[in-house]
Amino acid sequence: MTQSYLQEFQPPPRILLGPGPSTVHPRVLQAMTLPVLGHLDPLFFQVMDEVCEMLRLVFGTDNFMTAPLSSTGTGAMEASCANILEAGDTAIVCRNGYFGDRLADIASRCGANTVVLDSPWGQPVDMDALRDELRKHPSVKMVGVVHAETSTGVLTDLTEVVSLAREHDALVVADAVTSLGSHEVRVDDWDIDVCYSASQKCLGSPPGLAPISMGPRAMQVVNERRSPVQSFYFNLKDLESYWNQTRAYHHTSPISMTYALRESLRMMMEEGIDNRIARHARVAAALRAGLEAMGLELAADAAHRLNPLTAVKIPEGIEDLAVRRTLMSGHCIEIGGGLGQFAGKVWRIGLMGEGARESNVFALLSALESILSRMDYEVAFGASLSAAQRALVEAQRDG
Ligand SMILES: Cc1ncc(COP(=O)(O)O)c(C=O)c1O
Repeated sequence: MTQSYLQEFQPPPRILLGPGPSTVHPRVLQAMTLPVLGHLDPLFFQVMDEVCEMLRLVFGTDNFMTAPLSSTGTGAMEASCANILEAGDTAIVCRNGYFGDRLADIASRCGANTVVLDSPWGQPVDMDALRDELRKHPSVKMVGVVHAETSTGVLTDLTEVVSLAREHDALVVADAVTSLGSHEVRVDDWDIDVCYSASQKCLGSPPGLAPISMGPRAMQVVNERRSPVQSFYFNLKDLESYWNQTRAYHHTSPISMTYALRESLRMMMEEGIDNRIARHARVAAALRAGLEAMGLELAADAAHRLNPLTAVKIPEGIEDLAVRRTLMSGHCIEIGGGLGQFAGKVWRIGLMGEGARESNVFALLSALESILSRMDYEVAFGASLSAAQRALVEAQRDG
């Protein structure tokens, strides 16, 4: 018997319409095949500088410390909390989904007295409740919030969070893992102290890098800590030095990943950030119209829906996994299942980065129509496709 590991691995074609990773453009994959340079090679320093320059444009910031961490998004969550928080500090973490929960968990592992502010899943953060909670904890050091909750498909207004946090001199740590590259994120205009993301969603790279931007107030807190940051790997003071100042060795940079991010950001610059945001809005409107025309219900409050991620309720009597497996085996389409309290209750459909294309909306809607109709779910064939088509025409007219 031949061992499978002796065979060349050739992944079959997949249309990645889950919560990430999203489809990676061949140009970005190609960039990863370039010869590896040393992480202290001046030519690689140039690549680093270019990546930081483009990241500043995407984050909407002049922050000096804006660079990709060698990790996925969770690493950036760890880095943010580990650098800002010290034992005994108070943090308020807004939790309206699975990733708010993770942020709260990480904050409390950093030794902070972590107050969790719950808002219902499917809703944005409740600002009145946040105002009340802040009043109860006047010396709060950090407010953590997820801009785009990938578990529910909800967008929270960061400007409101910042204005409340400022009244108490608290730093705002904002998770933009799913929003960066698909929704407006303006770190400087909105006065966000720490904002992080991940390469594999709307930035269009494979997983493995987590861009982060730290404002002056946040860096001051990092520089004036009483205790050393417990994490060597994520010590942002040292990382800032490698990325922007001395270039002193800290850890070996993931060179090929950095090439990939450079190429995906270059593609974003060519398209234009605003055009890219508009593209995400257009295809999301088509998807939502199509799903609703199929009689499906969306999980997120209508006024606060995310564009790159739509959570749709699984209809009564329909088996979650059976649908997702058939989408994969019969149509090469991956979508995501629910997390936490939404497990088994929603499907999560991502139209992110390169995947945010009209053709993907039509491929998914027609596949869903045919799969659901065979499961005795009543489907008017073509209705979802024409609703999506109409929404696209409307979006084009309005845009
Ligand atoms: C909003 C949000 N934050 C954090 C993460 C964690 O990122 P990663 O899985 O890249 O570690 C995710 C992942 O889906 C996410 O959607």
